[in-house]
Amino acid sequence: MAALKYGKRLPSAIYVFRQVDTDFGRELNQVLAILETQHGLDAKYNVIKFRTDELKVSFLCYPVFLNEAHPALRHAVTIDLVTGKARHTDYADNHNPPILHRKETFLPEDHPERAKFDALTRAEEAEGLYAHPATIGFKLNWERLLNEKRVIIQGHELQRAQYQDAPHPASGHLLPSAEKALVIDRHKTAMTRYDLSKPVKTLLEYGMLKPEATFFDYGCGQGSDVRGLQALGHAAEGWDPVHRPEVPKREVDIVNMGYVLNVIEDPAERLEALVDAYRHARRLLVVSGLIQETVESDRAAQYRDGIVTRRNTFQKFFEQQELQQYIEDALDSTAVPVALGVFYVFRDPADQQDFLSARSRRTIDWTQISARLGLGGPRTMWKALYDAHKELLDGFGKVALALGRIPALTEFNRLPELDEHLGSAKRALRAFVQGGATEGLDWEEIRVRFGIGQPPKRRWEVLYEEHRELLDGFWSLMLRLGRLPEPEEYPQTGELRETVGSPKSALRMFVQKGGGEEVKKAAERRFDLTPVWRRWVCAWVWLFQFIVSSETPAGNPISSSKIIPDILVLDSGCPTLADIVGL
Ligand SMILES: C[S@@+](CC[C@H](N)C(=O)[O-])C[C@H]1O[C@@H](n2cnc3c(N)ncnc32)[C@H](O)[C@@H]1O
Repeated sequence: MAALKYGKRLPSAIYVFRQVDTDFGRELNQVLAILETQHGLDAKYNVIKFRTDELKVSFLCYPVFLNEAHPALRHAVTIDLVTGKARHTDYADNHNPPILHRKETFLPEDHPERAKFDALTRAEEAEGLYAHPATIGFKLNWERLLNEKRVIIQGHELQRAQYQDAPHPASGHLLPSAEKALVIDRHKTAMTRYDLSKPVKTLLEYGMLKPEATFFDYGCGQGSDVRGLQALGHAAEGWDPVHRPEVPKREVDIVNMGYVLNVIEDPAERLEALVDAYRHARRLLVVSGLIQETVESDRAAQYRDGIVTRRNTFQKFFEQQELQQYIEDALDSTAVPVALGVFYVFRDPADQQDFLSARSRRTIDWTQISARLGLGGPRTMWKALYDAHKELLDGFGKVALALGRIPALTEFNRLPELDEHLGSAKRALRAFVQGGATEGLDWEEIRVRFGIGQPPKRRWEVLYEEHRELLDGFWSLMLRLGRLPEPEEYPQTGELRETVGSPKSALRMFVQKGGGEEVKKAAERRFDLTPVWRRWVCAWVWLFQFIVSSETPAGNPISSSKIIPDILVLDSGCPTLADIVGL
């Protein structure tokens, strides 16, 4: 990457424009060529994004990069160089796609278009268009800003608008705001919960909510999560534009934004809400959204990128990957999936790394990856930290290893310096060991010896870590269907059996993970869609079996008809015989 002579440099990535003959230097040319061959990519991917905080490269397709002042992203392929997996995202139907600014920075010094792009950027800066950059990277938000400032962009020139009233043309197009806007009853989306929500449960499950950590629920609805956490002794507060507008928004350690994005019908406002929630998170933002499921078409009318329900609420159902990409685009940070529809966004990449390594002890074979990509020696974050603070860490590490514990201030008086440069003594120890100071010493051993180990994991946790994508896909389909999928509906059934066990065990894992309530709801939804005559037939079949065998058949009548497999009934307390016959 050091070989890159130009490019738009952001804190965690470098973006460069490339044409067929662009030369990035031998090593990068080689890496890109290998990735293109492996993933079948061609020249239409004209912008490359190199992540500098993680081993990831994105190939981005901007069909009108040179011609439009702020071209919109059409397609992205993000390749994880560690796993070799690629994530494709199509933005063709996106209502608010990411757009580019400051195009000159993507080009080499001698590019003929550079001066023209640069002049536009200067004019935009002078107009104050870059004063609050957090959301201008999205088409609708940018167009609204141009409207507010009463300017338009023609070609690559910024001009004062000649009109009096909105809607105004921007970039030569009419805004989508010309479309008739519905008045949606957003307040109806908040339900009273009788349990903590799934995203908040994950915080407790993963030990993220330390006693001293502060928590804020952004879009808290009726505030059930806030009350629940307060009852558990945590410093929790929450704001909601409808139910708790009087509570001031506060900057805290952990912000939760639970199932808010999917109820906002305006894509520009949706993005602003997400960015605002992140702004209040010092360490971690937890974002969750509803994942795609079956919705009866006569009950729901399509509106913008979601639906309007019979209760006049808006719902945007995401795909798991779509939500992940959406968060990453909006916040320019990695969104770590922790459950179906739940993502963590860490402020500090080191915290993310700690979280991931605590969750998964599998070590990454950096040497193999580097060799595969033809790169030089690997340089991990811990190594970089160690190199930067070698003298301090050597002193600290020697004392800590001799004592077998983190030294007290009287034993090592430079602890405040450590806190300042590395965040904590624990992290300093890690940088010392993982950074290479102690050849042959194992971080896992140190972790246990210093009493900062993790409790042993349960079997399902280990399986979930190893087959996360497979299981998330399976569970998503299972919830959508309200029953276990047949092999023809779920082509990876064979793989699931080999790696995780039977579909029933996969379902059991989901319930053990705390998904009982969701399973129950899915089964009930499925049941609601079952014609009454069929329910009666099922009930009679069950009764008949009962009379003939004098034994209670496993599950309930709907299980024997395969409408809901008995495991759904047994593990999650779905409708029983009495419920069904009583209907
Ligand atoms: C489905 S409820 C979720 C409530 C709560 N987080 C939970 O998990 O139970 C969605 C909430 O988002 C709130 N909301 C709507 N627009 C919002 C916005 N722009 N910013 C924050 N919250 C918003 C609504 O008032 C509603 O209470």
